[in-house]
Amino acid sequence: LTSSTLSVVVVGASGDLAKKKTFPSLLNLFADKLLPSATVIFGYARSNLSDNELHERIKPYLVEGKHPEEVVDSFLKLVRYQQGSGYGDENAFQDLSVKIEEFEFSNDSEKHFNRLFYFAIPPNVFAETALAIKKTCMQGEDKGWSRLIVEKPFGRDLKSFEELNKTLSKHFTEDHLYRIDHYLGKEMAQNLMVLRFSNTWFERVWNADNIKMVMLTFKEPFGTEGRGGYFDKYGIIRDILQNHLLQVMTLLTCEPPTTLEGNGAGNAIRDAKVHVLKSIPPIELEDCILGQYEGYADDPTIENKDTNTPTFAVIRLKINNPRWAGVPIILKAGKALNERKAEMRIQFKDAPAAEYLFAGKDCPRDEIVFRLQPHESIYLKTNVKSPGFSSKPVQSEMELNYNTRFWSDSKTVNPDAYTRLILDVLQGKQASFVRDDELRRAWEIFTPLLHKIDNTNVKPIKYIQGSRGPVEADEFVACLGYSRNENY
Ligand code: BG6
Repeated sequence: LTSSTLSVVVVGASGDLAKKKTFPSLLNLFADKLLPSATVIFGYARSNLSDNELHERIKPYLVEGKHPEEVVDSFLKLVRYQQGSGYGDENAFQDLSVKIEEFEFSNDSEKHFNRLFYFAIPPNVFAETALAIKKTCMQGEDKGWSRLIVEKPFGRDLKSFEELNKTLSKHFTEDHLYRIDHYLGKEMAQNLMVLRFSNTWFERVWNADNIKMVMLTFKEPFGTEGRGGYFDKYGIIRDILQNHLLQVMTLLTCEPPTTLEGNGAGNAIRDAKVHVLKSIPPIELEDCILGQYEGYADDPTIENKDTNTPTFAVIRLKINNPRWAGVPIILKAGKALNERKAEMRIQFKDAPAAEYLFAGKDCPRDEIVFRLQPHESIYLKTNVKSPGFSSKPVQSEMELNYNTRFWSDSKTVNPDAYTRLILDVLQGKQASFVRDDELRRAWEIFTPLLHKIDNTNVKPIKYIQGSRGPVEADEFVACLGYSRNENY
């Protein structure tokens, strides 16, 4: 990176995503000296703004972070503004291209000139933006790379995904495209290849012989909060389950990739993910419980006051391969619940001797929990003898807490997901980005269910804000054989 210049274009610079995630992540990379010394960042949007006005808009989000104001101010010196009359405004992108070239040539002409385009825009303008960029801002590969980061939603179903994909792939090959799913950038998701494949005792028990059930949970203690316009069109299944939870689930359940090293790693991991996705049959309505929190439609940004959009869903998946046959895989997500939490939970089968040795005594099943947030940790719920005179089994935790074990050491960096993923893009690492065939399969799995829900206008079960969600969801999970040890 040091022997190159970098031009970043944030398309949709005054939007929420750019302000809350893109610019703060670029600042993190700048502060950690992970951007080339010759870097320029252009914010592109439709409003009539000067460079300073853009700085004023984004600065409040930058000073919220951990960096001193002087660092924020030096970062802002790299940030310039480009106005366009629309996202497909070729003249504006032509102007931008001239500015980028001026910047590149004012630096060492021996260097590579790399260009990163970040689409912080809604997908309905992807096509025109991609076309305008292709016509005006792309350069020959010999000069440097051009890469594109795109954000979900990648369609609403299989068909709309294919359409969106067609427009993007007309102008950019998979090598240029980085489809971001920020859950793949979280520490615990990144951890899964090492945890599963470098530890004998994980790998040996990671199968239907030993595992009773796998459950991935996402809980948020707040509702739509002004994002109702977007959310009501998509719902919790498209917002969280079809992407974030399914993506993490593939890393938890896939076969070992052929390599984790070098240029081939990106495709090897993604091949392994596609392989497991292909063993998952489409979901039936019977395999799903939907909920909506009371008062959801009171959000003024939701137009349809009779909306049936689910804000909560529990879904059971099957993986039809020898490793997982018969093991229920549960994805559960909800808004306006009792806490903020994301975790992966694996419950093991009863120990063979437990039934006759500890019959009649409470002998809960073992579980391993990977906590993605808050406070990353890994803990193993394990039975031990009650300490002291009693010999009754009691469940306890063997715990690795990242705050005390790793993050308290000032030398260990804890990058946020977006920062880590943008750095991967700069380094050309595609492993943590979603390939088109993964996404296609993800839509094939979810589309029949989503169409059924939409077409038959399935009514979600109401639940109280701040609760665990509908009780029917806990009953459903219990019926599938989950024995509850603690709140999940
Ligand atoms: C986004 C969803 O992708 O992820 C939001 O659109 C959700 O609805 C967010 O709130 C959760 O991300 P995190 O990292 O805060 O768990």
